[in-house]
Amino acid sequence: MCGIVGYLGEKDTKGILLSGLKELEYRGYDSAGIAVLQKNDFQSYKAVGKLINLEEKTKEFVTDSFAAGIGHTRWATHGKPTELNAHPHLGESSYVVHNGIIENYAQLKKELVAEGVTFLSQTDTEVIVHQFEKNLKSATSAFEAFTKTVSELEGAYAILLVTKSEEKTIFFAKQGSPMLVGINAENEKYFASSDTPLIGQCTDVNYFEDGDYGYVTKDELAIFDITGTKKEPIFQKLSTNKLSAQKDGYRFFMEKEIYEQSTVISDTLLGRLTETEVLFDELDANLFDGIKEIKLCACGTSYHSALTASYMFERHARIKTSVEVASELRYRDPILTTDTLFVVISQSGETADTLETLKMAKKAGLKTLVICNVDNSSMVRLADASILTRAGVEKGVASTKAFATQVTVFWMLSLYLAKAKNTLTSDEITKQIQLLREVPASVQVSDTIHEKIRRLSKRYLNGHGFFFIGRDVFFPLALEGALKLKEISYLHAEGYPSGEMKHGPIALADPGLTTIALLPQHLLYEKSKSNVEELSARDATICAISPLVFDKADDYIPTKEHTDYMLEFFEMMVVVQLLSLEISVRLGNDVDMPRNLAKSVTVE
Ligand code: F6R
Repeated sequence: MCGIVGYLGEKDTKGILLSGLKELEYRGYDSAGIAVLQKNDFQSYKAVGKLINLEEKTKEFVTDSFAAGIGHTRWATHGKPTELNAHPHLGESSYVVHNGIIENYAQLKKELVAEGVTFLSQTDTEVIVHQFEKNLKSATSAFEAFTKTVSELEGAYAILLVTKSEEKTIFFAKQGSPMLVGINAENEKYFASSDTPLIGQCTDVNYFEDGDYGYVTKDELAIFDITGTKKEPIFQKLSTNKLSAQKDGYRFFMEKEIYEQSTVISDTLLGRLTETEVLFDELDANLFDGIKEIKLCACGTSYHSALTASYMFERHARIKTSVEVASELRYRDPILTTDTLFVVISQSGETADTLETLKMAKKAGLKTLVICNVDNSSMVRLADASILTRAGVEKGVASTKAFATQVTVFWMLSLYLAKAKNTLTSDEITKQIQLLREVPASVQVSDTIHEKIRRLSKRYLNGHGFFFIGRDVFFPLALEGALKLKEISYLHAEGYPSGEMKHGPIALADPGLTTIALLPQHLLYEKSKSNVEELSARDATICAISPLVFDKADDYIPTKEHTDYMLEFFEMMVVVQLLSLEISVRLGNDVDMPRNLAKSVTVE
């Protein structure tokens, strides 16, 4: 995820920016840069890869007087991770850094290009600085131009901008992406996209609210709200614990990542939906030409999102879809034909087995697509096309938000294909797009449900096993729930299609066998319910997850009433993630780094 830092003061601006960026390293990035305005002279440096490359480039650069500096670590979304695409972005005499996505950048860029502006990068961010300079020509002050620019932007942003026309000032704006400003007794001003760079530098911080914008000078911090009304900063004392700041106050990275699913799914959707269609600017219109079948291939959690996708692709786009475990496909001499689109799914883009299958498919002449979270990863570089999931860095070994964003991308892709193949009516596509917009709200964690799961978790610390069961897309979700529990609690768990239990596993049913039953209201409810009743009749312990009260259950986790099963899917996903987390916590396990597991499996 991108990171922002800013500094206005007399100390070593370069050093402060670089050490601030270092504090943001844990969030992941693929390029970085800084711009410093001192003595009316701009110096800017950018480098791809690790911060050490930027440090090397700035070795000779000295900052020894009052300066305004901004810095950025970039996690590529629009445009490859290259030096040109790294921030800060330059206009004629101003620099900008930005986190988030400018949704209307294409329109703004078109207008600017028509007026003769030359763009150097492929990013959405670059429009901000050019739009600002365009507005500056007719404005009475840099602040007026900045205010106008902010009002013209749509999407999510945290922005810092410095300009020669107002030398000792940093302009800022925040909408949807986090940013704070810090102060200290020495009258310095610090900015960052999260607390950590400010710890040790500032005593008090103000967290900007959506719609806030303004500027800082040596003596002033001016904040305006969305209506243009000046407001007082609300200062809070800054925490002194870096690790807990990195976890945003959560106990574990996994917990933080479960809670941030709402935000990252919003990022996944951003700029990709209109009222009536799904847009993937990154895909060539002819990618699906001549394609009769889709083969999805992945490992672990990514395999589960692929399984979920197979239901959506066949249902929405009526295209034959198969799903493969990468380590199996590799050695079974599969039939790969060129009318098949080969899709690999990977959070890291580096998983050895999945990467090998991608190579196999390419060798066999198939068109390839990767759904991935890491730009410039091996798979993204190798595949013909890629869609980035925009989940940001996932630190917990047990994957959560990566899965959530993969399923979101697949849902969008199924509608994209449905439109191309004319398999859903435009009304149905419009309706589904509306549902997609409701996903971020459906995964928001309520205190009540988390507390309920925490209390229930004490009942599930032993027994001889867990069966997570569900039908249709709730079957892959059951598999994913069981995998989460296995990984971090070390308890035996299996995911099973509800209707399959009677073909064998039901022999295990007794009070020591716990069934976690996914019972959505809007998909095969009666059928799923009778499968659970069969287990209940054999005295298995049942925990039902459903919006409908189920009287045969020992425990019941209520979910909200939704209008569609996919929204139920996303809410239940959060429930199974939290259940595993709380069981693991009670067992005293290392939630973020479970035994025997690694985040990226780059060996066979
Ligand atoms: C489970 C988990 C693993 C990964 C698998 C594939 O929580 O994280 O099962 O999903 O190792 O990794 P990627 O998606 O990076 O290819």
